[in-house]
Amino acid sequence: MTQSKRRRVIAGNWKMFKTQAETRAFFAAFNPSVAGVTDCDIVIAPPSINIPAAAAATKGTHIAISSQNHYWEKEGAFTGEISAGMVVEAGCRYAIIGHSERRHIFGETNEMVFKKTKSALAAGLTPIVCIGEMLADRQAGRTENICQTQFQGSVGALTPEEFSRILVAYEPVWAIGTGHTATPEIAAAVHGFVRQCAAEMFSAGHAAAIRILYGGSVKPDNIQGLMAQVEIDGVLVGGASLDPKSFATIVKDWQR
Ligand code: PGA
Repeated sequence: MTQSKRRRVIAGNWKMFKTQAETRAFFAAFNPSVAGVTDCDIVIAPPSINIPAAAAATKGTHIAISSQNHYWEKEGAFTGEISAGMVVEAGCRYAIIGHSERRHIFGETNEMVFKKTKSALAAGLTPIVCIGEMLADRQAGRTENICQTQFQGSVGALTPEEFSRILVAYEPVWAIGTGHTATPEIAAAVHGFVRQCAAEMFSAGHAAAIRILYGGSVKPDNIQGLMAQVEIDGVLVGGASLDPKSFATIVKDWQR
């Protein structure tokens, strides 16, 4: 599959930022500035409680809403959790799963990420499954080993049909919120490695089709260099997605 056949995805992860009022204000400014954009999928992941406000504010646009986390059971005595079905009902089409902050602050394992991915797919969501090494792993030359283990453990047991419906985000932990973006070459090398893992786990066709996003200090001034890499099919943006102007610049300028 050629580069152009993989549709690009520009996704924003708001983490635990923005109130309902701030959510509405963001979209009031953001929607008109990206109204003409048709060459990529635009996704925003607000905090769970603001999903309905974000869904209402993007109704009738081509901006899709994502959850940042959910639990894999349909319902039950799981205080504090929300299900994939609930986030769909609230207006989500995507689900971020296994973000490094979930893995490292909240102790999510590959097995949990797998169950969340399965349940997201069953609910009709498009999972954005995150993987990525820590600084010490990279310094010890263990980047590929860590990424392979996370990738295999998180999505390796999906059916081929399920695998064809996920997105993967490579987010090196040392680049998240630090201002130290991976160079386009470093990111592309890991994406190529992950694609090779996908070929071994599923098929060459699956590897060619899977969309792999890069995340970690993506900003308006580095988006073009990253997206110039054939291996990079999109980005997952944290800090720079909070400001409607800077996120709109990323959405609009990635290919200029
Ligand atoms: P950042 O976050 O862009 O603020 O580095 C990226 C992410 O955690 O998804």
